Amino acid sequence: MQISMTVNGEEVTRDIEPRVLLVHFIREVLGLTGTHWGCDTSNCGTCVVLMDGQPVKSCTVLAVMAAGHEIRTVEGLASGGALDPVQQGFIEEHGLQCGFCTPGMMLTARALLDRNPHPDDGEIRQAISGQICRCTGYATIVRSIQWAASHPAAGEPADGQQPAGAAAESTEVTT
Ligand code: FES
Ligand code: FES
Repeated sequence: MQISMTVNGEEVTRDIEPRVLLVHFIREVLGLTGTHWGCDTSNCGTCVVLMDGQPVKSCTVLAVMAAGHEIRTVEGLASGGALDPVQQGFIEEHGLQCGFCTPGMMLTARALLDRNPHPDDGEIRQAISGQICRCTGYATIVRSIQWAASHPAAGEPADGQQPAGAAAESTEVTT
């Protein structure tokens, strides 16, 4: 059947079987292989993408269920060549090693910061509790997300405290 959805701001239309999972649609039909597939039981969270801004495990969504919705994958996190603060935070605080969990982890972090710009460590750990990392032990991931919270991009909500023009320099500041 033919389905259409918006992926990283672009409308895509494809003919697929109804049983195709969204994770496979994204990886194999669209060729966006940043979204990973790490289990068969909906536990690991490495397949997380944003659907209408909400994190969803794309291994547990049929592609047809995403028809008409807005999907954002890790490839859509950077804008205009500038890394999202979450991506920069994972660099600054060494929030990744093998990198397999990282796309899903960063998208969940993005969704968290969009609804709660200043989460505490407990709120961060709860937000990423649906996602498994085999490498880092999580502490550096929590610090990476805290780094992003304290370096919001231009135009990003920060409880109304976002100083105009602060973002361009923000990626160069280390804390
Ligand atoms: S691939 Fe493990 S939760 Fe989706
Ligand atoms: S960095 Fe390897 S699984 Fe998280």
